[in-house]
Amino acid sequence: MTEYKCGKLIIEGKTKKVFELSDDPTLCLLQSKDRITAGDGVKSHELEGKAAISTATTAKVFQLLNEAGLKTAFVKVVSDTAFIARKCQMVPIEWVTRRLATGSFLRRHSGVPEGYRFNPPLQETFFKDDENHDPQWSEEQIISAGFKLNGITIGKDEYDIMKYTTLVVFEILERAWATRNCALIDMKIEFGLDTNGEIMVADIIDSDSWRLWPSGDKRLMKDKQVYRNLSTVTQEDLDVVKHNFKWVADQLDYLILPHSSLVVILMGSPSDSEHCKTIAKYAKSLGLNVQLRVSSAHKGTQETLRILAEYEGSCEKVVLIAVAGRSNGLGPVLSGNTPLPVINCPPCKPENISQDLWSSINVPSGIGCTTVIYPESAALAAAQIHAMHDHLVWARLRVKQLTNFIGLKQADMKFRNAVINSFWTTFC
Ligand SMILES: Nc1ncnc2c1ncn2[C@@H]1O[C@H](COP(=O)(O)OP(=O)(O)O)[C@@H](O)[C@H]1O
Ligand SMILES: [Mg+2]
Repeated sequence: MTEYKCGKLIIEGKTKKVFELSDDPTLCLLQSKDRITAGDGVKSHELEGKAAISTATTAKVFQLLNEAGLKTAFVKVVSDTAFIARKCQMVPIEWVTRRLATGSFLRRHSGVPEGYRFNPPLQETFFKDDENHDPQWSEEQIISAGFKLNGITIGKDEYDIMKYTTLVVFEILERAWATRNCALIDMKIEFGLDTNGEIMVADIIDSDSWRLWPSGDKRLMKDKQVYRNLSTVTQEDLDVVKHNFKWVADQLDYLILPHSSLVVILMGSPSDSEHCKTIAKYAKSLGLNVQLRVSSAHKGTQETLRILAEYEGSCEKVVLIAVAGRSNGLGPVLSGNTPLPVINCPPCKPENISQDLWSSINVPSGIGCTTVIYPESAALAAAQIHAMHDHLVWARLRVKQLTNFIGLKQADMKFRNAVINSFWTTFC
């Protein structure tokens, strides 16, 4: 904590204090408390060790989201119980996503059985207002409130960005928890606008943020619902709650382990190396490990099969990308001799594109390699195959779709505003 000097208290809530940082007005320090609360603060207990567990949980969850390419307010942990975040003006809305119906949803929608599955996940929004028990708000209410935060008014575009981001956060964490055989039932997040007016996931995400049911079994729940359900609270009860929270924080270590999903780009000739390096660049940006190899199926068939045997013998999960110009023997020969997925990405010359492509596509019967022509497409196709077993690659792909959505929206906003501005300068 030595490099950061705490400034004045910005706000104190039920579970944490937020301080300014004297040396950097764009950052703040979130100091967690050893306090657990429920029912809008009506039920409240000291829980020694909770601040440290909550900080560890939030840090690992945000690390996972950042690793996926999602921008969050989290910067870094500075002590057992505190972390630095981008200083935000917070949107006073809880963004809830539900995969299964339970809890307050059942009270508000009588007749729906517990466990009813929402596909796509159901999204709800609640205005943060303890005194009025966080009333549910519609899209129209949020937009009409006209929240002005760090220079940005929350309108339809900002609402859409937060809604889509909320869905992606849920899906990423749902996938991640599934690898530990835990069902993420529902969760809530909050957004803030940093000092640049950029919208990002902020606040914390810990065992208070979700319902988590190991093996999808409600009786095994590991989240704060255990505490909410207690009518009287003994020290033993609090120990169980703390033990559960610690278990969750420890499990998260497995969810942020770097994976090693491998893509091998085989080129028929070193003259194809630039094309291959472009594929490699895209593949790395999607969280894949990449190896480049040279082997000609026409001129060195034995060697091609020997290289293939190396990867088959490694028992790793491998996707092969074959890069061969003119007559592409490489992809089909690989594909005919291995069950591993093979993607052709021939380095087509514009003047010869249809002839060259034909040699990758018109394969003999019994051969299942696929063909794409753009380096980015080859990397994406390989990532989609790996995403089936690697939740971090899946998360990168999902965030890429979100980023595309936000990029288009922002471009649309810019052009729309440019048209409005030019109208005013022309006519006024
Ligand atoms: N990055 C951030 N910048 C500024 N304020 C934040 C940030 N993250 C969270 N906060 C705010 O910190 C306050 C304290 O948090 P908390 O104890 O959870 O309060 P509450 O009980 O209102 O939920 C909340 O008002 C929350 O919105
Ligand atoms: Mg809170």
